[in-house]
Amino acid sequence: MHLSSYALLVAVVASSSSATTHTRKHEAKDRSQQLKIPAIWKSPLFKSGAGPPGLDAPGSLPFGSPPTPLTPPSSQPSPPKVPSSASPPKHSSLQENFQVHQPAPILTVPALACSVTLVDRSFTNSYGSPSYLSFDPHFSFAGSACADPAQWTGLTLDIHGETRGRQFDRLGTVWVGNNRTGQGVEVFRLDNPEPTRQGVYWDVNKDVGKYYSLFSEKADVIFDLPNIVDSTYTGALNVTLKLTASVDGFIARRGLHRRGASADQGHKTVHSTAASLKGRAADVVFPLSKRLQTDNSVFQVGGSAGNGTTPVTFPRNAARAVVEVYASGTASEEFWYTGLPDKYYNQIPGAAENGYYGHGPYREVQLYIDGTFAGFVTPYPIIFTGGINPLLWRPSANYGTFDQPTYNIDITPFLGQLTDDKEHSFELAVVSSEVGGAINDASWFVSGNVQVYLDSSEERTTGKVVKMAKGAEVVDGYTTGSITGDPLGNGTLTYEVGLKQPRSFGVAGTIKTGSGLEYVAGWYQSAKYSNTGFVNATAQTNDQTSSGWTRSVVLDNKSPNNVLDDDLSSDDLQTLENSAGVHAVQLDYNYPLYVASFLSNAAFDAQVTQQFDRTIQNTIPSRASPPRADLGLMVGDETTFVHAKPAAALPHTILSRRKEEAVSVLMNGAIVNGTGTSEQSFMYKDMAGGTIDRETRTNTTSVLEDRLAGSVRGRAQPGQLRVV
Ligand SMILES: *[C@@H]1O[C@H](CO)[C@@H](O)[C@H](O)[C@H]1NC(C)=O
Ligand SMILES: *[C@@H]1O[C@H](CO)[C@@H](O)[C@H](O)[C@H]1NC(C)=O
Ligand SMILES: *[C@@H]1O[C@H](CO)[C@@H](O)[C@H](O)[C@H]1NC(C)=O
Ligand SMILES: *[C@@H]1O[C@H](CO)[C@@H](O)[C@H](O)[C@H]1NC(C)=O
Ligand SMILES: *[C@@H]1O[C@H](CO)[C@@H](O)[C@H](O)[C@H]1NC(C)=O
Ligand SMILES: *[C@@H]1O[C@H](CO)[C@@H](O)[C@H](O)[C@H]1NC(C)=O
Ligand SMILES: *[C@@H]1O[C@H](CO)[C@@H](O)[C@H](O)[C@H]1NC(C)=O
Repeated sequence: MHLSSYALLVAVVASSSSATTHTRKHEAKDRSQQLKIPAIWKSPLFKSGAGPPGLDAPGSLPFGSPPTPLTPPSSQPSPPKVPSSASPPKHSSLQENFQVHQPAPILTVPALACSVTLVDRSFTNSYGSPSYLSFDPHFSFAGSACADPAQWTGLTLDIHGETRGRQFDRLGTVWVGNNRTGQGVEVFRLDNPEPTRQGVYWDVNKDVGKYYSLFSEKADVIFDLPNIVDSTYTGALNVTLKLTASVDGFIARRGLHRRGASADQGHKTVHSTAASLKGRAADVVFPLSKRLQTDNSVFQVGGSAGNGTTPVTFPRNAARAVVEVYASGTASEEFWYTGLPDKYYNQIPGAAENGYYGHGPYREVQLYIDGTFAGFVTPYPIIFTGGINPLLWRPSANYGTFDQPTYNIDITPFLGQLTDDKEHSFELAVVSSEVGGAINDASWFVSGNVQVYLDSSEERTTGKVVKMAKGAEVVDGYTTGSITGDPLGNGTLTYEVGLKQPRSFGVAGTIKTGSGLEYVAGWYQSAKYSNTGFVNATAQTNDQTSSGWTRSVVLDNKSPNNVLDDDLSSDDLQTLENSAGVHAVQLDYNYPLYVASFLSNAAFDAQVTQQFDRTIQNTIPSRASPPRADLGLMVGDETTFVHAKPAAALPHTILSRRKEEAVSVLMNGAIVNGTGTSEQSFMYKDMAGGTIDRETRTNTTSVLEDRLAGSVRGRAQPGQLRVV
């Protein structure tokens, strides 16, 4: 497996002003290190000539280089230690790089935590050479407060990384699996900051509670961070990967099980607001990936590379199932939101040679079960730390860069037909709104998993799909615009691509579990999208809107029939909820993005404005129809069950709004100096009402402001930053 690196380079020359205290003899050489302009922004008016040797475009990394032998399994992870949330850098001269990030779900009772080191490695020439280890929680946590996985209330993967010199950003992944339920479940997808001559470090804690079933038993773990170090790209990526489990005292009292008819009884006596992971996370997690035991299992999908297909055999007593998708555009799809519509792309001679890509800017990941369309996700555009102009992302990376967000599709409506002990095909595809859904070849890195919740009985779950929107696999898009002359000469191209109407899908199925629960499960989703683009020889802008909602519903099977309408809108659902016993978990999202870059013979400037906005809420049936607690426990995913009383949970919100600008000076086609500035607002609210409210401003060398407030600010990621 050869993971491409994404964006371009490299050591920041702009940091030289702050590096004077650490003069080294090779400083003269470092000083000549130059940033290079991403190929996508090249234009005939600006021919880049004198960049650094070696790599000069995304996708030009040695995809085909021979694999190096696997590293042998390391010995068992080291024994538990008292954890520290963020490790200090080994070298105090390193600058902190960071991504403002939500904390792991907040437990309102004090937690004890225990960490084990899974991998501690200097990643140098690590293409095709991931770290592999065999992990056993009963060994690793033996003798600690976290010795019994059944008591865990929280679980995070913690990255501490250090790097110095010149290096690309790299796509790292962590995979966990076993031989019983399948190898190769992706549990973490990350990017690194690009180093500086002085060096940088970064820390990320990623909530992996939903993968409890994988970490609570013997597992094969892969950490892949493909890097190449040579005389030009000098930055080793020195990374420690730890697993931290936490426990609290209250959960030890028995009775906190939310499944089954008596689920609600425990709540009266347990005062904790944190449910154990065993109680709230999926019972089984199946991979949707290449399922390799000792290697990266990602599907590289698109075009001639096709889709990613995995056979899955469900437990007979599966009562609820959610598919989680990991997806990022890379190489020729890294800047997918700037893709030119094919009808114009085909009219621009030299578009390809000048680094522009076709197939338009719309992308969605589709899920097919046994060939039937089962839902889609519209990805949030991840911008890696080398993306567009690397000065935009120093020292502060954009939301989602160091820990990529994932997307859920509830497949419970299909369960009745999946519990037959037979293999079922799960296919992940990425499509555009162009003819045939065409995208560029093999450039989306996609994987996923199926999180399955079991019924307390051993009996088969039965039921069937009773309503399903037809034809939803076809993206009904439009393209308008105009082209005058050659946009890469003295002409211009303006265009707009969008969805003709909100794209929606819905499916409902009956479910009858062995323990006697009978209900209808539904999955509904709706998405809006538009992208306005402009291209001339020296400028390119894209203004994208992407928003929508997804909703899992569970209702009494005696509910009115109209709940099964194909095109049930959000408002209709709301009305139904108020009248019938409908339990729902809704996710609303909004991911607007504005990207602009301007090139002249002497300057390369860029602006990006981006938002990540997600709210997840449980809706509680009205008093008019008494809520059936047993059904309320059959909807949602692990994140909605953090608190013992899911129905009491408040909306859970993550909002990151960020604007950045880079101004840089070019000489001979490379950035010789420049600066980037960023301004970010971050708001977080968890289901217990805990909040983080943060305003951060940076320039390339410094954190200029970090106002951190909110009731759980002590758990903010990163912690309070030092402002200079
Ligand atoms: C990373 O590890 C290498 C050893 O492979 C060491 O030479 C280098 O100084 C380390 N870099 C940083 C930034 O700690
Ligand atoms: C899965 O099987 C392989 C090959 O027998 C073995 O090396 C590995 O330890 C097994 N994994 C687990 C988690 O038991
Ligand atoms: C991948 O999925 C898309 C969407 O269903 C389909 O059009 C395409 O034919 C599939 N490709 C392959 C190689 O199966
Ligand atoms: C654009 O360039 C072409 C070829 O160089 C030239 O013939 C034409 O007059 C130019 N048009 C404008 C509007 O400048
Ligand atoms: C391209 O468009 C930008 C923004 O409208 C403008 O400033 C620039 O002069 C244009 N470049 C060319 C070569 O026409
Ligand atoms: C950037 O480089 C140019 C060309 O060498 C120089 O004229 C300018 O003063 C530099 N600016 C800064 C802020 O160093
Ligand atoms: C960033 O701001 C600090 C504080 O105002 C200033 O000292 C530093 O020169 C600035 N850096 C750049 C690259 O503009």
